[in-house]
Amino acid sequence: MSLPGQPRPLAFQTFGVPRRIAGWETRRPMTEHIALYGKGGVGKSTLTSNLSAALAEAGFSVLQVGCDPKGDSCSLLNNGDPIPTVFDLLREWGEISVDAVAHKGFKGVTCVELGDPFGSGQCGSSEIARALAELKRIDLFGAIAPDFVLYDISGDSTCSSFYTPIQQIGVQRIFVVTTADFMSLHAANAIFKMLDRYGESNVPVPVGGLIPNSISSSFEESFIADFAVQTRTRTMGRIPRSLMVRQCELYGKTVIEASPLSNQSYFYRRLANQIVDEAASQPGLSAPMQPEELRAWARTWGDRIYALENGLVTDGAAI
Ligand SMILES: Nc1ncnc2c1ncn2[C@@H]1O[C@H](COP(=O)(O)OP(=O)(O)O)[C@@H](O)[C@H]1O
Ligand SMILES: [Mg+2]
Repeated sequence: MSLPGQPRPLAFQTFGVPRRIAGWETRRPMTEHIALYGKGGVGKSTLTSNLSAALAEAGFSVLQVGCDPKGDSCSLLNNGDPIPTVFDLLREWGEISVDAVAHKGFKGVTCVELGDPFGSGQCGSSEIARALAELKRIDLFGAIAPDFVLYDISGDSTCSSFYTPIQQIGVQRIFVVTTADFMSLHAANAIFKMLDRYGESNVPVPVGGLIPNSISSSFEESFIADFAVQTRTRTMGRIPRSLMVRQCELYGKTVIEASPLSNQSYFYRRLANQIVDEAASQPGLSAPMQPEELRAWARTWGDRIYALENGLVTDGAAI
């Protein structure tokens, strides 16, 4: 637990990441609510669980809230096992309690899954709003009093539950997880659009940045970095593609738990460190591309790949 005036958690120091912001502890809000959005399958749950694990081993108290109907957000923090979801409990008992919904996982990370609102795998925003209202009613956030709440939210554009946690809980920062394929960036752009619309009538929610996941080449990094420039956001520390992630998943564990000294763990810790440090700086607002801009931008990258594949000499743009 990091309290004002206490030294920086040890795990971050041992990995040699510089401490950048003096007085950080005193400027942090009591509990920071952070949402991680992204297209289905980009690796949000894996990344969120590893982030929670990295923050927890560094001494922070963390609550991870899975908002995906699959209800599998926290499984890597619980040896691969599912936990009873809010909707399961509501259906069975008609009400919930802190003890029933909150499960302690790896290093004491508190795990909560909203679960499937209709038992059909579909999103239902009013139902999700009801589940979050229940969590507030039982004063989950007060009872756990975590340093960070991480929401793992499916960002598939058909899902109208997009806004719910932002409005209801007052999410303070948003990150968008993406891989280096067009559909993931297309979904990221749709999320930025949603935030833009939301910002017209509400206090805008700052975008902490894009988190490139499953990166296997410098081309992929450049592709996402350029998208970040176009949408006036930025990229956070990338997470490489690694067989170790898949292996640890088979054991039902995060990489931080199953392979704490691996290079891959370092990348998760580096990202956790960035997220903690940059709480005190000013994350910006993103600017989504219009559909025709997005298409035109995509074509420029198509041309670059074509030139690369055919050995054309170009301006040396980084791929
Ligand atoms: N950095 C990575 N390297 C390799 N595989 C990854 C990485 N991140 C995620 N994965 C794999 O991608 C798959 C989807 O991940 P998951 O976290 O369930 O995605 P989401 O929650 O976005 O739907 C999982 O099998 C996971 O092991
Ligand atoms: Mg998931």
